[in-house]
Amino acid sequence: MTQPDEYQMGLSSRKAIYIPFPQAVPCSYILDMEHCLGNNPIACGKCQDVCEKQAINYDDADEVITREVGAIIVAIGLDVYDPTEMDEYGYTRYDNVITSMEFERLICAGGPTAGHFVRPGDSQRPKRIGFVQCVGSRNPKIGRPWCSNICCMNTVKDTLLLADHYPDVENVVYYQDIRAFGKSFEDMFQRSKEAGTRYVRGLPGDVEENPTNGNLLVTVENTTSGKLERHELDMLVLSVGVEPPKDLAKISGLLTLSKTSDGFLMESHPKLKPVDAPTRGVYFAGFCESPKDIKDSVCQAGAAASRAGALLNAGKITIEAITSQIDAESCTKCGVCARVCPYGAIQWKKGEVAVVIEAACAGCGACGAACQFGSITMRHFTDAQLVAQVRAIMAEKPKEKVMVFACNWCSYAGGDMAGISRIQYPATNRVMRTMCSARVSEDMVLEAFRVGAPIVLVSGCHYADCHYINANRQTVQRVQRLWNKLEKAGVRPERLQLEWISAAEGQKFAQVMKQMEELRQTVTDEEIAHAMEALKPKPKKKPKPKAEPAAAAAP
Ligand code: FES
Repeated sequence: MTQPDEYQMGLSSRKAIYIPFPQAVPCSYILDMEHCLGNNPIACGKCQDVCEKQAINYDDADEVITREVGAIIVAIGLDVYDPTEMDEYGYTRYDNVITSMEFERLICAGGPTAGHFVRPGDSQRPKRIGFVQCVGSRNPKIGRPWCSNICCMNTVKDTLLLADHYPDVENVVYYQDIRAFGKSFEDMFQRSKEAGTRYVRGLPGDVEENPTNGNLLVTVENTTSGKLERHELDMLVLSVGVEPPKDLAKISGLLTLSKTSDGFLMESHPKLKPVDAPTRGVYFAGFCESPKDIKDSVCQAGAAASRAGALLNAGKITIEAITSQIDAESCTKCGVCARVCPYGAIQWKKGEVAVVIEAACAGCGACGAACQFGSITMRHFTDAQLVAQVRAIMAEKPKEKVMVFACNWCSYAGGDMAGISRIQYPATNRVMRTMCSARVSEDMVLEAFRVGAPIVLVSGCHYADCHYINANRQTVQRVQRLWNKLEKAGVRPERLQLEWISAAEGQKFAQVMKQMEELRQTVTDEEIAHAMEALKPKPKKKPKPKAEPAAAAAP
């Protein structure tokens, strides 16, 4: 029973027992059990009959293998964009509109036509070929705003290949702009132009087929000349982009990894730790982290292997000084801390006291701020220390101050940036550093109002850029809860502000500080006094004494 050959992009067929691709290591056959007739109930079993080594076992099944490892490198590759949804290029309607992946197979000596370059519609050799760039890339309308990084140079390479093997072929490339930024890439691009490839700035608006000969009529606005052009081509190649692999969500769930807004995996730090995952002992190589070409993938793979090797050879790991500790006596076993921990560093089972895995704790403090029972202490950043800081800041003339909580990695660094750039901002803003905005508990904010702060600002890294995976999601939820609380207590919710300021945004930091000062000036003495009174902690109800058990009647 034959099936479309996946490796040849469905341009040829394979049997139910096959070698996945010519260079496969090990070079052994695999059985496609979905399409194998097997030997039960339909007796086929021909492959088993001819296999002298008796290597075929129809009853073999998948099994889960458990291994203990010290480091994990995530290198799960990519998926290629399927252009069927962008049917304005006629991919589903015209045989001679193909993707760049299909083109690679057609031109390859190991491809379905054994290197005889023909078009799929009539097996004739094409003489005029068009390439459309950015199909499924840099297109926010279809949810793919990223540049796929490899397509421009892949097309440049294809045009050079065609010019080399088939000098009579005319190539035309439709593009938005050519990104030839790697070593020698600009040189390749120039050679492609010198070899006669025409580059037209503009993407086709319409593609039609001439039913008599299968040729394609492409209409494009040349944005350099401002003219509408019509080209008759033998074949159109869609330079398809790449996307995160489909099973990325499963892997990121297993390893508690987070993703950037475009769906690729987020590294620990884009400049200082580009191959490390925020989860310790996990490293990235290749496309799963971002689109990159072969050279960059090889570099990253080498770096990931070195990082993993260094970790394993050290035989010990350095843990953060600021980790959370759980007081087993006061822990109510609710499990909230385990749910909010972005690293999965807190183990909890229903009815059991939570336990912190110190080697996995990164010290964001999200658990400490979320625990309603004061059972979690962050070493060196305890609640008592932070509340004492709030009180000290607001000890004198609190009405003239704005209480600013700034996360260590972005907003506080944004303040530094404003400082070293000599950008002025009002001195009424008093900045207090926490490791993450998620460390700022409800009580710290309420305490600031209780001691007379007119305005409180919680600031952190941009929403998808928290240095503790996604801990600042907790910040958003907590601030929303606080807004509701303030409203219920008759306190203007605008008096609590939330802002995202990155380390590079010194200008924004100063701008936000000015806005806070303007807002502070709108808060009246009465409002401050009302908040101080209304937000006072309510005395906790004493638990009712349990009734003494009735004395047992004398026998
Ligand atoms: Fe900045 Fe989390 S580290 S908000």
